[in-house]
Amino acid sequence: MLAQVLLGLIVLSPLVAGKTHHVTVGGPNARQLLFIPSWLRANVGDEILFAFNPNNHSVTQSSLDRPCLPLGGGFDSGFHPVTIGTAANDRPTFNITVQDTNPIWVYCRQGESTAQSHCGQGMVFAVNPGPKHTNSSFRSFKANAVAEAVQLAASSPASPPASSPTSPSSNSTTPEVASNLDALNTTSGSNQDVINAINSWAPAVIGLLAAIMILLLGLLGVGVLMCIRRGARPGVSRRLASTYAPVREHVPPTDDGFREEPLRYSEPLRYSEH
Ligand SMILES: *[C@@H]1O[C@H](CO)[C@@H](O)[C@H](O)[C@H]1NC(C)=O
Ligand SMILES: *[C@@H]1O[C@H](CO)[C@@H](O)[C@H](O)[C@H]1NC(C)=O
Ligand SMILES: *[C@@H]1O[C@H](CO)[C@@H](O)[C@H](O)[C@H]1NC(C)=O
Ligand SMILES: *[C@@H]1O[C@H](CO)[C@@H](O)[C@H](O)[C@H]1NC(C)=O
Ligand SMILES: *[C@@H]1O[C@H](CO)[C@@H](O)[C@H](O)[C@H]1NC(C)=O
Repeated sequence: MLAQVLLGLIVLSPLVAGKTHHVTVGGPNARQLLFIPSWLRANVGDEILFAFNPNNHSVTQSSLDRPCLPLGGGFDSGFHPVTIGTAANDRPTFNITVQDTNPIWVYCRQGESTAQSHCGQGMVFAVNPGPKHTNSSFRSFKANAVAEAVQLAASSPASPPASSPTSPSSNSTTPEVASNLDALNTTSGSNQDVINAINSWAPAVIGLLAAIMILLLGLLGVGVLMCIRRGARPGVSRRLASTYAPVREHVPPTDDGFREEPLRYSEPLRYSEH
C-alpha cells in the first residue's frame, strides 16, 4: 500500500504542479531587447504568462531554423506598446499553455526585416530548447536569429530606417529612472542558467521530499504499531532478549572468565528485564 501511495505521488506530482511561468517581454530598461528569462523548461499543461515592459514588443512563435519569421499557424500576441511609467499591474499580458514537450521558439517581431529588428538584436525566447552544445540549444537558436536578421535586412528593399523603436521616449532621463527602479527586482541574466535549473528541478525535489516524508510517516506508524503489540504481549520482548543469551549479570561473580567482557552486553539485558 505504501508503495502504491509513493508511486501515485511521484506520477501525479508534475500534473498537480501545473505551474505558471512568468516571463517579462523587454528588459527593465526599455532599451534592453530581451526576454527575462530568455528560456525555461516547462511541463505539458504549464502556463507561460508574458508581461510586456515599456517599449513596443510582440510575442511571436517562430522556428529553430527561421527564428525571425512567424511560424505558419503559430501564436502571435500582436504589438503591445507600453509607455514608460505604466504601472506594473496595468501592463498588458499574453499567455500560452504548453501542449507538448517539443521546443517552442519565440521572438519579438518589432522592426522585422530592418536593421532595427529586435529579433536580430537577440530578442528571442524558448521553452524546452535542446541541450547545451547542440544545434537546437537556446544559444544556437539565438545565433540563428542574429544571422537571419542580417540576411532579412539586406534582402529587404531599401527599408526606411524605422523610427528607432528602442527609444520610445525622447526623454532620456526617464528610462534611466525606470531602469534603476526595476533593476532592484530583477535577477541578473547571467544567473539565468542556475535559476532555470533550480526551477526545473523544483517539482521533482518537492515530490521527492513529500515521498520521503510519507515514507518516514509510514515507518513511524509501523514502529508505533509494533510498540503497541509488544506492550500488549510483554512475554515477547523477554523471549527475544534471551536469544542474546549469556545472562552475565546473573552469573556468580566467582566466574572470572565471564566477568572480563561485560557492561556492553549487560546493558540491553538489564533493559529487557524491566
Ligand atoms: C508598435 O509597433 C508597430 C509595428 O512596428 C507599429 O505599427 C505601431 O504603430 C507601434 N505602436 C506605437 C504606439 O508605437
Ligand atoms: C490567458 O489568456 C486568456 C485568453 O486571452 C485569458 O482569458 C486568460 O485570463 C489568461 N490567463 C491569465 C492567467 O492571464
Ligand atoms: C544538427 O546536428 C545534427 C547532427 O548532430 C545534424 O544531423 C543536423 O542536420 C543539424 N541540424 C541543423 C539545423 O544544423
Ligand atoms: C523629461 O523628464 C523630466 C523630468 O524627469 C520632465 O520634467 C519632462 O517633462 C520630461 N520631458 C518629456 C518630453 O517627457
Ligand atoms: C518582483 O517580481 C516578482 C516576480 O517577478 C513579482 O511577483 C513582484 O510583484 C515584483 N515586486 C515588485 C515590487 O515589483
